[in-house]
Amino acid sequence: MKLAIASDHAGFRLKEQLKKYLKDHEIVDFGTDSEESMDYPDTGFPAADAVSNKECERGILICGTGIGMSIVANKVKGIRASLCTSREVAILTRKHNNSNILALPGRFLDYKEATEIVDAWLNTEFEGGRHQLRLDKIAARENK
Ligand code: RB5
Repeated sequence: MKLAIASDHAGFRLKEQLKKYLKDHEIVDFGTDSEESMDYPDTGFPAADAVSNKECERGILICGTGIGMSIVANKVKGIRASLCTSREVAILTRKHNNSNILALPGRFLDYKEATEIVDAWLNTEFEGGRHQLRLDKIAARENK
């Protein structure tokens, strides 16, 4: 899968670990490039735009809490970003929300937890049906 990935300084270490872990995927890295303090919108918006414009199929965004990156991504048209801190929630957000961006809290997950969440999120399909009707309502609001 072609994946956009981005972080701020607080998510940089986990971003680099996930890039290695996801070696079987095509990864487009939108930064940041170090643990030097920076502003998460500067990497989050370009990565979310790449998912919105279909350059990438899905994206993974990491900051300290995952909250800033979720807020950024959910401002971008067509993005359904999900902050996940468990494998179970990652599965449900794919099944129910057709999540296209995974936001992770780099400061609150270890490598094992993060990779379990990423695997679950990447490998779970959207269920459609009644959930699609709900997403249609969100899209209608977005397009108003
Ligand atoms: C950076 O200190 C921190 O505010 C950022 O990584 C993120 O958690 C914001 O939501």
